[in-house]
Amino acid sequence: MILNKKLIVANWKNHPNLPSDAVKFWNTAKRGALSLKKTELVVCPPMPFLALLARTLPPKKIFLGAQSSSAEEGGSWTGSIPASMIFEIGARYLLIGHSEERRLGLTDKDIGKRLAAALRAGLYAILCVGESARDTEGFFLSILEGQISSALSAIPRKFLDNLIIAYEPVWAIGKAEREAMNPRDLHETVIFIRKTLAAFVGGNPLPNTPILYGGSVGAHNAAHFISEGTAIGLLVGRGSLETTSFRELLASVDAIK
Ligand code: 13P
Repeated sequence: MILNKKLIVANWKNHPNLPSDAVKFWNTAKRGALSLKKTELVVCPPMPFLALLARTLPPKKIFLGAQSSSAEEGGSWTGSIPASMIFEIGARYLLIGHSEERRLGLTDKDIGKRLAAALRAGLYAILCVGESARDTEGFFLSILEGQISSALSAIPRKFLDNLIIAYEPVWAIGKAEREAMNPRDLHETVIFIRKTLAAFVGGNPLPNTPILYGGSVGAHNAAHFISEGTAIGLLVGRGSLETTSFRELLASVDAIK
């Protein structure tokens, strides 16, 4: 995927509770996206609001994404949410393997199946990876390597163009901005992820796979993860529902040269 712009993905998680509030946040996000020149915004609302917000989806600058999906397509699978339906209601992005789902038992095998279904459906698949803790010996790198290679193992090369990696170290999620990752460490991790992707496709690099950073991103640290940390964009949780500071965050990212 060749991304000419920076990408901000707003993961609303399970907020807000009311459809009317979801519409308010959506309208604010749409207004915020209007002034962006070098940045695209993706909003991932809770699943029950996805179709509602898709009814007023403008043609560009802002897109919808889903936070989760099922691996199953077709057939009788009560409760399943197929990637193809997510595509049909107008979403173009899908988060896969978020650490909060891994914590509830989502396995690497299921993540690989969801990824394959998402890419086949034509969605941009945002594969979330990240270690629970950092050690000084660098063992966390093998966790990342394992998460990436097991997810990609069953994906034909031709589908990988629609792959995005979101690096979200679990220890950096849900903290204060000052406790987020150091952008210099992020830069090293971005290089490692690029090398892992290259090795995975037999040394034939996937130079255009966008890599996002997520974990306690706010208006004050967002731009650093891109300018120093070399991520192409950000996956923002709580900060994406703080209306004023999210607007500042978007402006700071859009202003990066
Ligand atoms: P916070 O930005 O709230 O730390 O959440 C990060 C995250 O999990 C986004 O997917």
